[in-house]
Amino acid sequence: MTVRHFRSMLDLSSAELDTLIDRASAMKQELRAGQNHTAASGKVMAMIFEKSSTRTRVSFEAGMSQLGGHAMFLSPQDTQLGRGEPVEDSARVISSMVDVVMIRTFGHDIVERFAEYSSVPVINALSDSFHPCQLLADMQTYREHRGSIQGRKVTWVGDGNNMCHSYINAARQFDFELTVACPQGFDPDPELVAANAERVTIIRDPELAAKGSDLLVTDVFASMGQEQEQEQRLKQFAGYQLNETLLACAHPDALYMHCLPAHRGEEISASLMDRPDTVIWEEAENRLHAQKALLEFLLDAHTK
Ligand code: CP
Ligand code: NVA
Repeated sequence: MTVRHFRSMLDLSSAELDTLIDRASAMKQELRAGQNHTAASGKVMAMIFEKSSTRTRVSFEAGMSQLGGHAMFLSPQDTQLGRGEPVEDSARVISSMVDVVMIRTFGHDIVERFAEYSSVPVINALSDSFHPCQLLADMQTYREHRGSIQGRKVTWVGDGNNMCHSYINAARQFDFELTVACPQGFDPDPELVAANAERVTIIRDPELAAKGSDLLVTDVFASMGQEQEQEQRLKQFAGYQLNETLLACAHPDALYMHCLPAHRGEEISASLMDRPDTVIWEEAENRLHAQKALLEFLLDAHTK
């Protein structure tokens, strides 16, 4: 049996992603109406975290419980993963005992190698290259507030990082135009950009990039693992803040997003974070609903 994974946005078809986002919104309403779900009844998820997390851990753990299953937190400090047991061996053993695995790690090759040796679905909960789970929540949030994102203009402001890469994949899967505004030296992966050249443009000037945009998105200047570059990056990213001035360049109906955690006054202004009409908090909440829909999809696909 071929095991379905969610290593990147490209592991699901556009049609599957569309259905999944709608299902996430439906599950959100059903949760509010007090309806129970049983998609993960009797199922166990292993959650491997090699990096810190608030949203991802809480949403997956709560989500698995709400689906009738159980989630197990595993950190390198407490498992043999941290003492050098090979990824391939760990994948074979862990997947023999659970129904789905979620992994947050450094190199994307670790996610790929884990998935190759896993007998159950593997979810990428952030690697140095991609953060597809966040994109499910972002796409859900946009659709709930503004309808289909197809044909819309999205602007990424800041580092060409894992989130930016997942936006490039999302541009392909959801058929939107993506403009990336980043300083020289912080471009997203050139191969990924080239493979999506018909949809992705890099522009240095953030105001030009934001012109007429339907969605502005940013993320921290220094990602996890780059903490030592924080001070230097603050200088290199000067002028790349998502703030009221930049938002004023966008379409009057534009939304703005941030995957969080945010550094107020760095990549995003405090005033945008604290606006009463911001969707940022709902974007975070939607991690729960979108990942429940993802778990339901993967668990169902695995039993067929
Ligand atoms: N956005 C996100 O993945 O947040 P955490 O790092 O808190 O999980
Ligand atoms: N780019 C950030 C995203 C955090 C959710 C990081 O990798 O640290």
